[in-house]
Amino acid sequence: MIRTILAGVGPAQTCFLRPGNGAQKDLAAARDKNMPIPKKIVLLPGDGIGPEIMRAAVRVLKDCAAKFGRDFRFAEFPFGGCAIDATGEPLPAETLAACRGADAILLGAIGGPKWDAVPLAKRPETGLLALRKALGLYINLRPIDLHAPLRGLSPLRADRVSDVHIDFVRELAGDIYFGEHRLEADPSGERATDTGGYTTEEIERVAKYAFARAETRKGRVASVDKSNVLAMSQLWRKTVTRLSAQHPKVKLEHLYVDNAAMQLVLAPAQFDVILTSNIFGDILTDLGAALAGSIGLIPSMSCGPGPSLYEPIHGSAPTLAGKDVANPVGMILSAAMMLRESFGMKREAEWIEAAVDRVFASGIRTPDTVEPGTTKVGCIEFGERLCAEMTAASQRSQRAKPGTW
Ligand code: IPM
Ligand code: MG
Repeated sequence: MIRTILAGVGPAQTCFLRPGNGAQKDLAAARDKNMPIPKKIVLLPGDGIGPEIMRAAVRVLKDCAAKFGRDFRFAEFPFGGCAIDATGEPLPAETLAACRGADAILLGAIGGPKWDAVPLAKRPETGLLALRKALGLYINLRPIDLHAPLRGLSPLRADRVSDVHIDFVRELAGDIYFGEHRLEADPSGERATDTGGYTTEEIERVAKYAFARAETRKGRVASVDKSNVLAMSQLWRKTVTRLSAQHPKVKLEHLYVDNAAMQLVLAPAQFDVILTSNIFGDILTDLGAALAGSIGLIPSMSCGPGPSLYEPIHGSAPTLAGKDVANPVGMILSAAMMLRESFGMKREAEWIEAAVDRVFASGIRTPDTVEPGTTKVGCIEFGERLCAEMTAASQRSQRAKPGTW
């Protein structure tokens, strides 16, 4: 039996997302009375530290709803290892159906040693890939922004990390991730094969997004491939080059992935938008996260034709789970990204993001971001301090300018 937890947030209502329980009527009534349009948010806390960081993000969203008069409705579903335990499947049909019907999806993290022995086809990670495929999530945006108060955390020298704001656009629905994975007998023991590929169309659709993104930023796209070795990279480079003609204001350059890794460490400030394939994007964004000081800080958005999914780029960190030491910032910033990108709530997103930076600047730090002279707090306390800071900011601006937040 799948557990569904529902929480109505906003002006005095409770709404249930499951069919047959009056949700449609509630939505219509809300619209009639000029109420805020309800946003259905599916929560997939997952495994390890996932539930802890999700709690912190939901608390932030509830405060945001109260502050700005928004109506967020949450429904939680099992996904990943916990879903395997509950149903035998990492992506139960009911979870997928809820995701399809959502306005947006928030995902914590999945996987852990408990499910390492599960056959590849049933692993938590396979559930994540199945979800990405089912929702057609082919764009994965991973911003690597250095938070000024955390500069000292970067492993790079200060002169190399100043002004690093990279938007990674990672292709998410193709490549070796979605080809055949085969294990067969071989005279030496066994033979493992993974195949992957890209079509022109798959490259075009993600490249278009990267060019459009660059047009709103510094106007530079670095396309990363391995076209000196791989056929799919040759098609990648050819396709991206052809598309660039439609974006004359964007300066395109191509880098081999090995060189890109080196350049990211030597001179990361040279990059604006980095466009790359699924597997290279997976690897390079962890490198990018390290530049920012901690992988616990980085949010992401995955989008396609339907609802978008927002998740921190880190894993489920099983060794940290249950100890109240996880960094909820990647999850909270994913929620802020959801507000901006899926709901067009720019002010709300900025309210959260600015408060995160002020909490860091005030010296409040999670264990992974602690520095000499700062105060180490747990995941719960960081969330509380952040909510207190958001409230204080509203009060300050209300005093300065009555009638606004
Ligand atoms: C990520 C993760 C996933 C990926 C895993 C969990 C399948 O590493 O989102 O970066 O490789 O895409
Ligand atoms: Mg990864």
